[in-house]
Amino acid sequence: MKLGIISGSHRSHSNSGKVGDFFYSLERTKKTFKHTEHFHLGNLDIPIWDESIWNEAKDPKWHKWNLISQSLMSIDAFIIVVPEWGGMVPPKLKNLLLLCSDNELAHKPALLVSISAGNGGTFCISELRSSGYKNNKICFIPEHLILHNIEKDGNINISSQLSDRMEYCINVLHGYAYYLKAFVEEYTSDSYRPYQSGTAVYDDLMLTEGSHYKVARGGSFTRFRDLCRTRRRHGRYNSPLYIMGFRMAENLDRYSAVTSLHHNF
Ligand SMILES: Cc1cc2nc3c(=O)[nH]c(=O)nc-3n(C[C@H](O)[C@H](O)[C@H](O)COP(=O)(O)O)c2cc1C
Repeated sequence: MKLGIISGSHRSHSNSGKVGDFFYSLERTKKTFKHTEHFHLGNLDIPIWDESIWNEAKDPKWHKWNLISQSLMSIDAFIIVVPEWGGMVPPKLKNLLLLCSDNELAHKPALLVSISAGNGGTFCISELRSSGYKNNKICFIPEHLILHNIEKDGNINISSQLSDRMEYCINVLHGYAYYLKAFVEEYTSDSYRPYQSGTAVYDDLMLTEGSHYKVARGGSFTRFRDLCRTRRRHGRYNSPLYIMGFRMAENLDRYSAVTSLHHNF
């Protein structure tokens, strides 16, 4: 899976950019995600939103945005570093959130990290949590970080305790990314039968599919609200409504299964 770090200040030598770089090198060492990309808004040329973005014949000014948009689409989870400016979120970050349709950010988890040279940083978190997700559908996770007194001697000030906390948050974010990713009901390799020492339950799928149909797990949005649950388990009804995916799996011993899970996603 791929992590995207968005540094939300449009100052090119910003503290947000330095905190973003810190997350980047932390993640390059720990490798919780397989790939990481840093989007430093201070170095990116992004036009201000206007309705010409909807025109069929695209104004050349949107070409640069299209490249950034494609990179954002390839990301599975985001860290958004946001400085507090006048108690608000910087406009370039708000513009980015406005430009994103549901292709770039939708249903992807994001960790909010606010920074302040003093004891601020709460306003921009609540601003993003209250409206920053509405049309782009990004999913801010419950965990967030507020980094107070971020500046020291012209650089950023990050204690080892804080660095440990950042690492913990990346792990939590990875967990969300992993579980939010399964968005389609998936076939498993097993046929329907009772659990060991369980009793057989005869269900309606047996009538149409026979007694050994393949078990499917994980809900899907194609099945409306009731069945859009990761805990859903049943099988496929013979109807176009039932879109199925499948899981790639291989047998591993217990230790390598755990490390492989950790490193491959
Ligand atoms: C325009 C501007 C407004 C600011 N307003 C606030 C504020 O309201 N509250 C606060 O805690 N810090 C405020 N600060 C201090 C910033 O939080 C701090 O300098 C931060 O490191 C700036 O982030 P940046 O370097 O990523 O742009 C402000 C800084 C700037 C440049």
